[in-house]
Amino acid sequence: MSTNNETTFQQIIAHAKEYGFVFQSSEIYDGLSAVYDYGPFGCELKKNIRDYWWKSMTQLHENIVGIDAAIFMHPTTWKASGHVDNFSDPMIDNKDSKKRYRVDHLIEGFVDTLNAKGENQKGEELIAAMEQLLAKDDFAGLKELIYEHKMSCSVSGTCNWTDIRQFNLMFKTEFGAVASDNPDDNIVYLRPETAQGIFVNFLNVQKTARMKIPFGIAQTGKAFRNEIVARQFIFRMREFEQMEMQFFVRPGTEGEWYKVWKEERLNWHKSLGIPAEKYRYHDHVKLAHYAKEACDIEFEFPIGFKEVEGIHSRSDFDLTQHQLYSKKKQNYYDADIDPATGKPYGNYIPYVIETSIGLDRMFLLVLCSAYKEETIAKEDGSTDSRVVLNIPAKLAPNKLAIFPLTKKDGLPEIAEKLMSECKPLFRCFYEEKDAIGKRYRRQDAIGTPFCVTIDHQTIEDGTVTVRHRDTMTQERIPMDKVKELVLNAIV
Ligand code: GAP
Repeated sequence: MSTNNETTFQQIIAHAKEYGFVFQSSEIYDGLSAVYDYGPFGCELKKNIRDYWWKSMTQLHENIVGIDAAIFMHPTTWKASGHVDNFSDPMIDNKDSKKRYRVDHLIEGFVDTLNAKGENQKGEELIAAMEQLLAKDDFAGLKELIYEHKMSCSVSGTCNWTDIRQFNLMFKTEFGAVASDNPDDNIVYLRPETAQGIFVNFLNVQKTARMKIPFGIAQTGKAFRNEIVARQFIFRMREFEQMEMQFFVRPGTEGEWYKVWKEERLNWHKSLGIPAEKYRYHDHVKLAHYAKEACDIEFEFPIGFKEVEGIHSRSDFDLTQHQLYSKKKQNYYDADIDPATGKPYGNYIPYVIETSIGLDRMFLLVLCSAYKEETIAKEDGSTDSRVVLNIPAKLAPNKLAIFPLTKKDGLPEIAEKLMSECKPLFRCFYEEKDAIGKRYRRQDAIGTPFCVTIDHQTIEDGTVTVRHRDTMTQERIPMDKVKELVLNAIV
């Protein structure tokens, strides 16, 4: 990461705190590492992203329905899903500092330093070599790579490394107060992905919502991972939120559905008006234990291109495993006629295409792409500056700010009338304090797309001044057209 980009990233983090988007969790106790709280504007933005995703999945697709499964699940779920045995990352410890690193993060961190020196080609080769070794679980080869390039610990500065070992990322806790001779009896896990809540409810949903294959089940909710190297603000957290959709298909059609969802998900991102060149696909070389084919949608954050969303072809792995462990059939009966045989497709365990996006990571994406520091040329030749968040209007925490020019002459009463007309439809903000210019700047900093000023002319002709956030242009429109203007921009 170049120094400039590092500065921008730090400025975005500082801005997120100063303007009530994201706070460190339990800050008064010096915080809890990789856990964050969302403030007044942050929780609105987060909710708007979640709603936008939910609507695009469940309302705009007649064949996708939602569920809201519990975070706690029967512990066998995680044995069946493979997470108890396989949900681990290769780790390496520095013997001098005792600091533990995820091997891929150590190597990626080293590549960042190469990129900062302009040695991008070398960095790309190193990443390719790492991916090949990870795909083969070749830990000796990875350790050799670390030594060969003299990758050192950021704390001790030495290359005195242990062997590479696997470390499970699931959090465990005890369930209920029943004493048992075997402490493992009471163990439950905090779910590391929301997907399993969908799989174990596959038949409940299919039957009750009378779904026919192909169909999907969507869910948003918290997931927990004991990330070893949790850094980069809300990019990698220990408690985070996922928005996942499992799409159940007829075996043999998974290849075409994988392509459909790969394209559809990128289109969803582009629908927000964020420049397409900021996105790219990254096809996986090392596949997760459940995956047959997988790719990431990556976004160019100030810290480089990083994963925001994963699209995975999970085959029938999960349902087959749950059938095996629960001894409950997970078959679907497909009454459609197979043209090859002239008979119904009959019973099978469906294949699954999964789309999985981190809500917090999407939040960071929106914040990073929206954050701008601008210099404004004034008419008298001097300059001014502003920080503005060009958040897509449909996601912005406040849609409209309403300002009476002064606190007298009946202007607040007119402003309050507009406020009560608009607030049932979208989130508005009312303010009478300070000069109008200052009020505009505060709304720019939280990304409010429209500000409306009620002045003395409003009393005469019923018009107001609308000020547009991105262009800072102002226009005079009838007050009864304000609602329509905002609704057109956010629907
Ligand atoms: N069910 C599949 C699954 O969980 P994943 O690639 O491990 O796949 C999906 O995670 C998405 O969840 C990622 O693309 C990322 O956006 C988000 N995510 C994963 N780990 C995260 C973490 N520690 N902090 C924030 N977001 C995370």
